[in-house]
Amino acid sequence: MPSEAIRTTPSWTTKQAEAFGLLSNRPRVLLYGGSQSGKTRAIVEFFVRACLTFPGLRILVVRQRRQHAKESVWHETLLGDVLPRYAGAWSPNYTDLFVSFVNGAEIWVSGTDEKERIDKVLGRGIGGVYLNEVSQISYTAYTTIRTRISQKVEGWVARLVADCNPPAPTHWVHKVFIEHIEPTDGGKLHAARYGSLLMNPADNLANLREGYLEDLDELPDAQRRRFRDGEFVQPAGAVFSEYSDIECPIEKAPDCEQYVVGVDMVTYAAVLVGFQRYTDGSRIRRKVYVVDEWQQPGTIAHEANTAIASKWGRYRYTAYIDHNLGEAGTREFDNSRLARKGPGSVDAGISELQTAMHLGDFHVVDSCSLLRYQLQNYRRDEAGVIIKEDDHLIDALRMAVYSISAGRVINVV
Ligand SMILES: Nc1ncnc2c1ncn2[C@@H]1O[C@H](COP(=O)(O)OP(=O)(O)OP(=O)(O)O)[C@@H](O)[C@H]1O
Ligand SMILES: [Mg+2]
Repeated sequence: MPSEAIRTTPSWTTKQAEAFGLLSNRPRVLLYGGSQSGKTRAIVEFFVRACLTFPGLRILVVRQRRQHAKESVWHETLLGDVLPRYAGAWSPNYTDLFVSFVNGAEIWVSGTDEKERIDKVLGRGIGGVYLNEVSQISYTAYTTIRTRISQKVEGWVARLVADCNPPAPTHWVHKVFIEHIEPTDGGKLHAARYGSLLMNPADNLANLREGYLEDLDELPDAQRRRFRDGEFVQPAGAVFSEYSDIECPIEKAPDCEQYVVGVDMVTYAAVLVGFQRYTDGSRIRRKVYVVDEWQQPGTIAHEANTAIASKWGRYRYTAYIDHNLGEAGTREFDNSRLARKGPGSVDAGISELQTAMHLGDFHVVDSCSLLRYQLQNYRRDEAGVIIKEDDHLIDALRMAVYSISAGRVINVV
């Protein structure tokens, strides 16, 4: 490492020193804990040093959404905090979000919502990956990325490092990194390959603004335990936890016997859903496949219809639209009807989706990244009321699912 390039020596917290030890000794490491505890800074520093030491090494930093990765790890930590101390040893590419070191090593920053970009980097082979806020990343994306750490670099041991504020104890991250269990089949993982470390804001006191910890003290119980104490707690009010805890999106949906499009006519958000019936004892149930998503805020009904028809017309769908424009809406939309509505229909739609998730009958295609994000973050407030934030595709999905089933499981006669 060109030590003359280091302008100042940072003072690491005791916990960060412990983290460096773990990162050096285990190939799969999770740093988890409360917010602002120095997790990201420690991991980025570790990988920057690795790049300076191992010529040609390629590291991929991934978060669920590229935009979030760009704002946080790329901008704040990598370019803002860590790299300025190594001036002259690297140059950035702001368009593609990567840094090249003079020895040929590279650090790439991306999001799982940018599959093509990630595939390009993975295709060249990487020697290490940092999954930032890993609890937001699907188990499928994790396993895909894990199996692609294939670059051979003399003297370097391939590594997978992750950090997060702890999610629910039922989440795949807890199963893999804490329990060392494969979450989909319950098999045992090689515990000796895994390391985890709890890091809390109290461990990073020297670098936090005054009053930060006191602010955390005032959070509601579940959030305080999570963001101050770093405990794995079931997030309060999560509606689709059964889906998001072990999220396994599928690459491609099978052909289905029926296709329905749900359209939210307020924000112009729509989903294409395939249904496939099967029998379960005396019941007929449906497998639900979300095939595609579409959103175009600020458009008008006529344009939305044209866009949706050209995108999904080959599926011969029935569209269920909300009541915003009344019957006039159905005249604008090909093959459309008003969505089923009534007292309790929101909860009924949600419960329908929860049942399908519980039975393993609900699948979302990987490329539906906005819907997947919304499903993970769909919440009720303390009074049990759905928080109307980032939920337009879910509204469209609820309408599609509830409209064709009307909340009933149909008995075989
Ligand atoms: N050794 C250090 N020296 C100086 N500042 C530090 C050090 N470690 C962390 N910090 C600062 O403390 C703050 C929190 O660090 P960091 O972002 O790494 O925490 P985090 O645990 O990843 O937080 P979050 O859970 O919010 O993602 C940042 O402003 C960072 O620059
Ligand atoms: Mg962080």
